[in-house]
Amino acid sequence: MKKIFLFAALITLVASLSAEARVKVTGRGSKMNFSTDGIPEMYKASILLMQEKCIKCHTMERTVIAVQTGRAPITGQPFNKQAVKAYGIKMLRKPNSEMDKKQIREIVLVLNYFLDENAK
Ligand code: HEC
Repeated sequence: MKKIFLFAALITLVASLSAEARVKVTGRGSKMNFSTDGIPEMYKASILLMQEKCIKCHTMERTVIAVQTGRAPITGQPFNKQAVKAYGIKMLRKPNSEMDKKQIREIVLVLNYFLDENAK
């Protein structure tokens, strides 16, 4: 009985934590994406770039979940600013990524912006 109570408390906690996540998204599941509502003008082009480049091998859901939860969904590694940079480089180096360093830098900056928004 005690265990069930603890489990319920945990679920409630997790649900309330994820409800607090600030970053705005559109769609669900494989259609999940960052919303461009209220995004500063300077980041809009980078978001479009990310939405074009980062869906070649997987959907945006993977990246959105990483920002929202602070965890990379496949490996469970922390997804913070340092990790964003490392993942940017990792994705850049993947065969056929069709991205260059400048584009990765732009995407890293916009993901840092989303991480900040999410932490508010
Ligand atoms: C060339 C294919 C390819 C492209 C392009 C690509 N990814 Fe990935 N991504 C992968 C693969 C494969 C994985 C599975 C785990 C791994 O190999 O790191 C992955 C995993 C991830 C993960 C989860 C990592 C983890 O450890 O859980 C994130 C976050 C991610 N990608 C973000 C991005 C972002 C942001 C971009 C655009 C800059 C991008 N991906 C572009 C292939 C790609």
